Amino acid sequence: MWVADMDFETPGFIVEAVSKRASHPVYGYSLMGQSYYEAFISWVKRRHNWEVKKEWMVFSPGIVTAVNTAVMAFTKAGDSVIVQPPVYFPFFNSIKNNKRKQLNNQLIYIDDTYKIDFDDLRKKAMDAKLMLLSSPHNPVSRCWTKNELISLGKICLDNDIIIISDEIHADLILPGHKHIPLASLSEELSQICVTCMAPSKTFNVAGLFTSMIIIENEKLRKKYNEVMESVHLVHANLFGMVAAQAGYSEGDEWVDEMMFYIGQNFNYVDEFLKTRLPSIKMAKAEATYLAWLDFSKTGYKGDKLNAKLVAEAGLGLSPGSIFGPGGEGFMRMNLGAPKQYVEEALVIMKKVF
Ligand SMILES: Cc1ncc(COP(=O)(O)O)c(C=O)c1O
Repeated sequence: MWVADMDFETPGFIVEAVSKRASHPVYGYSLMGQSYYEAFISWVKRRHNWEVKKEWMVFSPGIVTAVNTAVMAFTKAGDSVIVQPPVYFPFFNSIKNNKRKQLNNQLIYIDDTYKIDFDDLRKKAMDAKLMLLSSPHNPVSRCWTKNELISLGKICLDNDIIIISDEIHADLILPGHKHIPLASLSEELSQICVTCMAPSKTFNVAGLFTSMIIIENEKLRKKYNEVMESVHLVHANLFGMVAAQAGYSEGDEWVDEMMFYIGQNFNYVDEFLKTRLPSIKMAKAEATYLAWLDFSKTGYKGDKLNAKLVAEAGLGLSPGSIFGPGGEGFMRMNLGAPKQYVEEALVIMKKVF
């Protein structure tokens, strides 16, 4: 229950669309058609109330590729990049591998949830050129509110910081919460934002490597494209395109039902831990299918915690320490799975602790 893809089958309408295209025996170079763009633009308008224009959209096979490209395009060696650990760890690699400097604006863990440390962000922002935002946040399951996003955006605007808003989990929102694309909040913000979206998590098609990067600011878009073109990352994946179009055209009901189901998995885990295994706590869940579990009261952490779970429980979770400062003593558990697996996992976890 570690890596972030689901145990659920990709929905039938995507499998059908891909199979239909596969039955046409020419798999040559392909261009994205108008209907591909329209399907995505309409989805983002319907689901997130954001009006994206086709000319703002640029391609990337994956979001991590886009994050690395953005780091190369918008900063130079030695520049500082802000991240908010505990956070999706490939962000750290994109900074380190490109010889940039990582500035941690560590999230604050309080009352079983996470908050942004805005005082610290204001200080760090004075030295930074770029910020990598995870929205909604992997692994702590926060769906950032409008006020939080506006405050964060203002600090970046005041300090000329470009924001890479990684919104790959945007469609995975639990009942009672609402995802807001950062760039949709104001004309000013849309000029400093590079928004990363994809059908990968939403429809469990991560292996088809098709993502949508939205850059309204023409100068930033040009810089991004120059880096992509320098390594000739310009061609779409034929089947990824077909899958994305089918998902964004037909997937509303499927995603709503899937998130309702995942919400029940979260409720089950929370209730189980509170009533039967109180030494382990789950951070309040608002988005994604990733539960963030606090094991600090068990007396186990780091390699010992992981070894205990793997060797004694046969349970593979993601060790919190890989997500950077603040992750030690936590484990990330993937709940994008049939409830039966989740139940089994908790029963063996209870036996072990
Ligand atoms: C926040 C976040 N960004 C990016 C990715 C991966 O994106 P890709 O596979 O498109 O590179 C993940 C996958 O877990 C993720 O959680």
